[in-house]
Amino acid sequence: MKLLTTGTAGFIGSEFVRQAVAKGYDVVVVDCLTYAGDLERLKSVNGNFKFYNTDVSNSEEVDNIFKIENPDAVVHWAAETHVDRSILDASPFMKTNVFGTHVLLDASKKYGIQKFINIATDEVYGELGETGSFFENTPLEPNSPYSVSKTSADMLGRAYYRTYGVPVVTARPSNNYGPWQFPEKLVPVVILKSLNNEKIPVYGQGLNVREWLYVSDCAEAVMTLLEKADPGSIYNIGSGQEQKNIDVVKKILNLLGKDDSSIEYVQDRPGHDFRYSLNYDKITNELGWKPKVHFQEGIESTVRWYLENLKWAEKKLDFLRDYWSSVYKK
Ligand SMILES: NC(=O)c1ccc[n+]([C@@H]2O[C@H](COP(=O)([O-])OP(=O)(O)OC[C@H]3O[C@@H](n4cnc5c(N)ncnc54)[C@H](O)[C@@H]3O)[C@@H](O)[C@H]2O)c1
Repeated sequence: MKLLTTGTAGFIGSEFVRQAVAKGYDVVVVDCLTYAGDLERLKSVNGNFKFYNTDVSNSEEVDNIFKIENPDAVVHWAAETHVDRSILDASPFMKTNVFGTHVLLDASKKYGIQKFINIATDEVYGELGETGSFFENTPLEPNSPYSVSKTSADMLGRAYYRTYGVPVVTARPSNNYGPWQFPEKLVPVVILKSLNNEKIPVYGQGLNVREWLYVSDCAEAVMTLLEKADPGSIYNIGSGQEQKNIDVVKKILNLLGKDDSSIEYVQDRPGHDFRYSLNYDKITNELGWKPKVHFQEGIESTVRWYLENLKWAEKKLDFLRDYWSSVYKK
């Protein structure tokens, strides 16, 4: 089976490619290598894959790739993914996440794709208070420009299934962590800043709660959807491992042998969702997937990975320092 995968030079998508190639799938990677994309992540793939340096919002180029490759299925990970950047400038989010998804769905309709896995997020549901969880039929109430763009893409998938019969399956994963994550997201930020003896910025009081899903578990869940889910279905992908941000920060500092004195509470992110929590009984009961990696085990192996791959991470951090200093100069 030939898979056209998008955004797979990124954090989670590259792990999906590693798993798919190891399982014998014929894999095509489509990624335009934004600041978040890096082919280094694919160096450890055990086998061949084909790479197109292409923007998913370029309909001509995307059409051409479908014509040449004639894929059986699409697994669509490509997106702008950082909420803070979407608050500064939402345009790239609308272009890639909304229009890019539309382009890929159109090509999938034209070329008769057998399955289209549309990667959404738990952020489409909005926020929860201290209790409760999101089910697949919970109304969508996104709050940030990022989550609105992802919700729009999620709904486009629904419309292409309902209107044209494109066999879309929607995946809504929770917060991922693990090796190769770009160091603008919480876990690698804390690891790297702490190693550099810098202050660790924590939004508000750090009380926001996320459900932490190890990256290999997420990729395995998406593989399960590819192989087993019915067109038109929607699945939450969770871990049940809820943690307050401040507790994640303290766990990492503890693993690095540091105390909490470097924590610096900073002004909260505008519109910051308080808590996400997914009920993922559906994927477990219907398709037999459940997460394997407990948070403690996952965070230990993540910290170890960054310690062993500091050169890669530091390079990204230098890039980010330049980016944020140019933002603050404006
Ligand atoms: N990271 C998480 O915690 C999380 C949680 C739930 C859902 N998701 C979703 O999973 C997907 C992957 O997330 P990630 O954290 O691996 O992202 P990432 O930011 O690490 O990678 C995104 C990839 O998409 C590529 N890309 C961006 N714009 C593109 C475009 N116009 N054309 C082609 N390629 C483009 C980038 O080059 C990069 O390789 C996204 O759709 C994201 O919304 C992520």
